[in-house]
Amino acid sequence: MYTLARRALFALDPETAHNLTLGNIDWAAGLGLTKLVSRAVADDPVHVMGLRFPNTVGLAAGMDKEAAHISSLGALGFGHIEAGTVTPKAQPGNPKPRIFRLIPAQGVINRMGFNNEGVDRFIENVASGEKYRARGGIVGLNIGKNAATPIENALDDYLICLRKVYAHSDYVAINVSSPNTKNLRALQGDKELNELLAGLAAERNQLQEIHGRRVPIAVKIAPDLADDEIRRAADALVAHGLDCIIATNTTISREAVKGLPNAEEMGGLSGKPLTVRSTEVVHLLSQHLQGRLPIIGVGGIMTADDAVSKMQAGASLIQLYTGFIYSGPELVADCVEAVARWRVANLKKGA
Ligand code: FNR
Repeated sequence: MYTLARRALFALDPETAHNLTLGNIDWAAGLGLTKLVSRAVADDPVHVMGLRFPNTVGLAAGMDKEAAHISSLGALGFGHIEAGTVTPKAQPGNPKPRIFRLIPAQGVINRMGFNNEGVDRFIENVASGEKYRARGGIVGLNIGKNAATPIENALDDYLICLRKVYAHSDYVAINVSSPNTKNLRALQGDKELNELLAGLAAERNQLQEIHGRRVPIAVKIAPDLADDEIRRAADALVAHGLDCIIATNTTISREAVKGLPNAEEMGGLSGKPLTVRSTEVVHLLSQHLQGRLPIIGVGGIMTADDAVSKMQAGASLIQLYTGFIYSGPELVADCVEAVARWRVANLKKGA
């Protein structure tokens, strides 16, 4: 069924296809039509960051940037939805076109640039997740900085967003790894990251007092950091008492897509060309962290086998986005079921 839908969607330019899908998903889910393209999956609960996730497979940030379709997307079988990235103020993002398919490589390049309506609208929209949450779905809210905010003042933007999303989040994700906001990725440098994390951790302590609830914070990193930088970033998260690392965002490398149409478009590359590096980063983190922090594995999960590979590499949860564009909602159920089988087999092996 999705093959037909995909043919129609791929005839459109990628952003139009994206808007058409999101623009229709709410009424389609309301009428139960999402069941035509997805199948129900049994729960396979996991506990990560002190939260109970109904299954291991989540929707990565960037699809529901406005947090406006959480329950409808959740109805496709995801155990968690990460909405955002949101910034303090509304901003238009980069000029269009800004999403490109690389069909022969099963990849996508995007340079959206955090187009969004600002954090105030975002937290009004989060109510779109009420039904989903009532069913046990987990909602992560992913925050960033405005393009116009100088990088030296980045912490201010993250703090504005953290304060506003705190009460509405099951977990908060800190995006310091998008290649589409100038200098953003410099926040992953030792000094910058330590300052940022110290500020976030201190603010979280205060928010915990105010709200009587400690909301876990995850940090999302780029696949283009050197291995040592990745280890140091992980150590910084541990040192500041943060809760989880999300690996990875899109890549600026074009190694895997050289010579293909659209390969030279600026932006972050996702999908199959990212699979190997992102799994490598998960593995590296897992070896280094030895369980000190859980890892959410994301990047190029195009098949159920890719999902299992991320778990084998050491992820506690996984997320997908580009695979969902190429294969549709069936991929969610395929991944949930494959991971559930793998977990059972793995438990037996360990017993
Ligand atoms: C993204 N991604 C992303 N990540 C993030 O933290 N904030 C964001 O706003 C976005 N926006 C975004 C838009 C588009 C069009 C794409 C394709 C991706 C990155 C995404 O969450 C994920 O980390 C990567 O795409 C790698 O996973 P996949 O797509 O290979 O499964």
